[in-house]
Amino acid sequence: MTIALTESTQLSNGVKMPWFGLGVWKVKDDGEAENTVKSAIDAGYRSIDTAAVYGNEVGVGAGIRSSGVRREDIFVTTKIWNANQGYESTFAAFEESLSKLEMDYVDLLLIHWPVKDKYKDTWRALEQIYKDGKARAIGVSNFQIHHLQDLMASSTIVPMVNQVEYHPLLTQQELHNFSKENHIQLMAWSPLMQGNLDQSVLAEIGAKYGKSPAQVVLRWDLQNEVVTIPKTINPERLKENGAIFDFELTAEEVARISSLNRNERFGPDPDNFDF
Ligand SMILES: NC(=O)c1ccc[n+]([C@@H]2O[C@H](COP(=O)([O-])OP(=O)(O)OC[C@H]3O[C@@H](n4cnc5c(N)ncnc54)[C@H](OP(=O)(O)O)[C@@H]3O)[C@@H](O)[C@H]2O)c1
Repeated sequence: MTIALTESTQLSNGVKMPWFGLGVWKVKDDGEAENTVKSAIDAGYRSIDTAAVYGNEVGVGAGIRSSGVRREDIFVTTKIWNANQGYESTFAAFEESLSKLEMDYVDLLLIHWPVKDKYKDTWRALEQIYKDGKARAIGVSNFQIHHLQDLMASSTIVPMVNQVEYHPLLTQQELHNFSKENHIQLMAWSPLMQGNLDQSVLAEIGAKYGKSPAQVVLRWDLQNEVVTIPKTINPERLKENGAIFDFELTAEEVARISSLNRNERFGPDPDNFDF
């Protein structure tokens, strides 16, 4: 499997989305976001994952502009926050995101969490935004199989992406299979287990290739055909995390990493959250 930093998966509507990108949750909007995004793009990253609730869309937009790379060559994802879900409120929230980003479209717009009794109305708004050409692709985040089935039963567009917590301790195999069957691209959040990388299997496999545990996990994402968006504000780790395109895990190593699964979450449970 040969994938380069700039290579993409093709979403169900034909739009190309990079396999690898930068996540910016907890990156501050006081210059940190602008600098980190610019450094990432300088290092070859072409995809940035933000959200209205991260409070850094202004810095993300500024970082992209100051990189000097053309807007159409960067894949920008943002998300509709829970408090803004519903049909009319979604349009207003999306316009605010565009205004902060200083952009006239995003590449991918996601429903951040499956807010009960709201997400279907939110989705209808996303479908309209997509038809209006203001989001090149639309999708969801933190949706379980039953949320997807419920949404798909009453909508005209199947989500193109589902962004969920995904790492060696939470492999979500059933959800992954369902996603593949329905042409929904799985996208991993907290791919590095929020920095909890202390697993001897990862160190052992990494030693064979001269790679760090983080690089082994990110490579495992790619070989499982899952889009990955590790977050870092550290310039060295920015380069380290992107240096995963010059080695290949064996099928046995991929399986060994997957067998670390113990359905353990670092973030909230999509079936039991109260925000
Ligand atoms: N849709 C959702 O509900 C949702 C939820 C959570 C996250 N996300 C998205 O997913 C992105 C990634 O997830 P995340 O930020 O939760 O966590 P993550 O990417 O799994 O881990 C980030 C943490 O790992 C550290 N780190 C980064 N590279 C490292 C390396 N090479 N070696 C050791 N430690 C390293 C970072 O510290 P330094 O910055 O100090 O390097 C940071 O503390 C987010 O930024 C966000 O865009 C989405």
